[in-house]
Amino acid sequence: MRGKLVVGNWKMNGGLRQNDALLAELRSRWTGRGDCQMAVCVPAPYLWQAQAALSGSPIAWGAQNVSEYAMGAFTGEVAASMIAEFGCEYVLVGHSERRTIFAESDATVAAKAEAALEAGLTPIVCIGEVLAERDAGTTEDVVLRQLGAVVSRIGARIAQAVVAYEPVWAIGTGRTASPAQAQAVHAVVRKYLAGVVATAGDVKLLYGGSVKADNAKALFSCADIDGGLIGGASLKAAEFLAIAGA
Ligand code: PGA
Repeated sequence: MRGKLVVGNWKMNGGLRQNDALLAELRSRWTGRGDCQMAVCVPAPYLWQAQAALSGSPIAWGAQNVSEYAMGAFTGEVAASMIAEFGCEYVLVGHSERRTIFAESDATVAAKAEAALEAGLTPIVCIGEVLAERDAGTTEDVVLRQLGAVVSRIGARIAQAVVAYEPVWAIGTGRTASPAQAQAVHAVVRKYLAGVVATAGDVKLLYGGSVKADNAKALFSCADIDGGLIGGASLKAAEFLAIAGA
């Protein structure tokens, strides 16, 4: 049976000294729980620091983005093989900030997911609708279009990925989806995956968007919500630990 997973997404935050303090506190206070894994996705220049601080601990680490290309003349890009060299388990692909601010298309996100898998990383494929799409009643169409693009590229290997549903209107806004709203979309995603792979019941589906210590338990108790992708609240050790504890 699938366990739970709580992933911190630091976004473009941090610095050597702050990171040291945060990682040390997580390491000393998260002793691990059989059914719940904790991970942090840090800016690429700090992957070595996460590796040094967390090796041998029950906490995994990963990157927030990856190039769709394997290697070569792609100035400014970071290859999946490079990320893998720093002991990463995970990499986020298709976060809504990448899709909107950096104009990543569904096809690019799919290529990134494939590049991650080929380097032995677990892609955390982020999907989610913007407010206008929710208001227009097209949430399901949007998330299945985004996920479908990835599946059409990697096929049954979607079973090796994690999917994170993050309604864009809930990210960094303090306005979280209700457990019922989140569960409804997760159920749609699970049903879609069941048409693709026999092991859809084992794929971890995370919820993200203004998860805090005081709303985490209600969200994580839903049948198809297997944990969370945590932005702002993952920068404070006590808050992040409380969310993982939930
Ligand atoms: P938030 O971000 O928890 O700050 O809303 C979530 C995310 O962007 O992954």
